[in-house]
Amino acid sequence: MEHNRRDWDWHTSPLDFNGLDSIAAKVGTPFWLYDAGTLKRRIGAVKRVAAEGGVMARYAMKACSATRVVREMLANGIWIDAVSGNEVVRAIRAGAAPGQSPPVVVLTADVFRDNALDAIMQYGILPNIGSPGMLDELARAGYKGNIAIRINPGFGHGHVNACDTGGPSSKHGIWFSQAEEIARQAALHAMKVVMLHAHIGSGPQMEELLANLRRLANEFARTAPIFPELEAFSFGGGIPHSYHEENPEKALNDEIAPLGPLFHEVVKRLRETTRREVRVEIEPGRYFVAPCAKLVARVTDIKKTEPRSASTPSGEKGGGQTFIMVDAGFVDLLRPAMYGSYHRISTYGPSKSGPPPGARPVVVAGPLCESGDVFTRDASDFIAPRDLPLPAKGDLLVIHDAGAYGYAMSSNYNSVGRAPQVWIGEDGAAALISRRETVDDILRLETETTL
Ligand SMILES: Cc1ncc(COP(=O)(O)O)c(C=O)c1O
Repeated sequence: MEHNRRDWDWHTSPLDFNGLDSIAAKVGTPFWLYDAGTLKRRIGAVKRVAAEGGVMARYAMKACSATRVVREMLANGIWIDAVSGNEVVRAIRAGAAPGQSPPVVVLTADVFRDNALDAIMQYGILPNIGSPGMLDELARAGYKGNIAIRINPGFGHGHVNACDTGGPSSKHGIWFSQAEEIARQAALHAMKVVMLHAHIGSGPQMEELLANLRRLANEFARTAPIFPELEAFSFGGGIPHSYHEENPEKALNDEIAPLGPLFHEVVKRLRETTRREVRVEIEPGRYFVAPCAKLVARVTDIKKTEPRSASTPSGEKGGGQTFIMVDAGFVDLLRPAMYGSYHRISTYGPSKSGPPPGARPVVVAGPLCESGDVFTRDASDFIAPRDLPLPAKGDLLVIHDAGAYGYAMSSNYNSVGRAPQVWIGEDGAAALISRRETVDDILRLETETTL
């Protein structure tokens, strides 16, 4: 089916335009396409690093909380980091063991919202608190068990400033110099601090992550004597994914190889410091799932703008553009609009007349009533035209590496329903794992209740 290929190599599945289009005929476009094989390989890669380093891996399920994905993690012995009461419930319903022996699910939060406290109490979940007042809240709720403390170690940088999760401008965690006060408060409430946690940035460059993990190990070693009942240290998530890499599978093991030896050293050091067989944890989200899903959209039109003369009123800025209009928008995949994130884009068409004319700079834009509904953005929030072969109306456009913070961040803006999720099993069979949201689904929450 070479004639159907535009510039996209489906590394793990034999899907082509016809395969994608046959799914589209059943579920419509846009839709999410997950690949079980890719997920399995990513889980394997993390497990190898964890085994080499002597660490326990959790999955930060906020990256993609689909039950199917969470189940895969649990089936492979990966524990769960949840960040809300509902994520705890989702994890338990997906089969995670409740309780703290061992703490398969940890609830990490800066604020207890909705049912977070209830979920902790009902399922005996280990709370990982990110704000000092949460100790009192736990006590008021009658909680008497163990706790984990998320510290802000004073540093931590992500792939963009908005993903910094440590340092004076970060809202996350309890400032490191308050550790002694927290230890006193916990003792007053008869709560045992069994884990120290920090998450020092989501998706930084690997070199930076390694340097910050070493700094964090120092910080943990310095802080550990304040908490004599520690059983574990969590180094959070943050493992980057190479969104520009044409073949993410190729980079699979090389990328994270330095982490194994680093954690091996860290485990040794923290055990020596504490003189206990402490556990060391990591909790990647993005690395596990980023390459496991693609967002598949239909090209609905191609339109052009032209440069205006300088004498025109406002709005004339920029040269002319070619816009590829597609039926997916930032309600589906928010990352480009939110962070200027880069996702590889490819097109598939049914034409048998050979490859389309050469690549040219185009802007890929969606259906939302919002000027920023553009997938080809850069980190400065401007449109960044991308060289792509010009598709035809009706072709399919695939946005790659959308599995992390993709569906999980999707919304109903413009009253658009969330797109369906399709799972391609290792045998190549497609299954619908969530259907398209309808207007009735959206309206179901509205009431006219007098308060
Ligand atoms: C507490 C915590 N752990 C883990 C993660 C996962 O990070 P990543 O997806 O970069 O691995 C996050 C994400 O920001 C987080 O806040």
